[in-house]
Amino acid sequence: MIHAQPAADATRLLAGLLEARTGQQIAPSRYWRIQTALAPLLKSEGIPDLDALVAVIMDPENEKLLKESLEAMLNNESFFFRDTAMFASLRSDTLPVLRERRKARRTLRIWCAGTSTGQEAYSMAILLDSDRASWEGWKLEIVGTDISASMLARARAGRYSQFEIQRGLSVDHMLRYFRQDGEDWVIDPRLQKMVQFREDNLLKPRGDLGRFDLILCRNVLMYFGPETRHIAYSKLVKALEDDGLLMLGAAETVLGHTDLFCPTREMRGVYGKALPVRG
Ligand SMILES: C[S@@+](CC[C@H](N)C(=O)[O-])C[C@H]1O[C@@H](n2cnc3c(N)ncnc32)[C@H](O)[C@@H]1O
Repeated sequence: MIHAQPAADATRLLAGLLEARTGQQIAPSRYWRIQTALAPLLKSEGIPDLDALVAVIMDPENEKLLKESLEAMLNNESFFFRDTAMFASLRSDTLPVLRERRKARRTLRIWCAGTSTGQEAYSMAILLDSDRASWEGWKLEIVGTDISASMLARARAGRYSQFEIQRGLSVDHMLRYFRQDGEDWVIDPRLQKMVQFREDNLLKPRGDLGRFDLILCRNVLMYFGPETRHIAYSKLVKALEDDGLLMLGAAETVLGHTDLFCPTREMRGVYGKALPVRG
């Protein structure tokens, strides 16, 4: 019981650091996750407990360990074609609308913000490649960003376990776009070339990624508090072409969270700019 208070202080402090740096909130009822998420790091660093970890990462010299600790606390859940109905509507509605809007310049730029281990960006690449004939002669660009360097390293490698490959991917897509290597499955280099991965914090972008025709920001902002969500929406609206489209996760909406975007009448879960924003 004597140690209960310091550990509680350590978890609260770690949750506060996570929110300040990434926007992600952890509710006090879920603070137990912090201990679980950090256990492997404590073990590999030979640090006895969370109090000791906090003491180490408060030293500015240990910024790398602080970053690794926060990355370990992030929710990185992702899988191929997550929320199949949304990918079906991308294929049947959203992409045809964008193809019509961009037919004069024949370029399409897509940003997967909070891409995690890459399944979302590769699902997008598969979707475009499966309909290659319609995109003949187009310049297609998919950019996947995430705050977590370790998740991005996995995304770039395009290597997935048997469990990961079976989550959401049809057997046909698995055999067409991946090759088995031992226990893992590795993405086809042709598909890998369609996607660029970059480290980027939605709240504090490192550089200008340019403007996009379609932004997928799915299952990221749902963990943000109102203030950081507002900052993130203002970054997304600036990065979107005036007639571009934003897709959120299946359980997310802009309604009640921002007035920078408004629902499109014909595409479920897809939003357009409420007003063109410059600058
Ligand atoms: C739950 S995953 C969602 C992955 C994918 N979009 C999907 O729906 O399958 C959320 C991702 O957002 C990333 N993330 C959290 N805060 C972020 C921030 N401030 N900037 C960029 N990425 C962030 C996390 O690292 C994590 O990989």
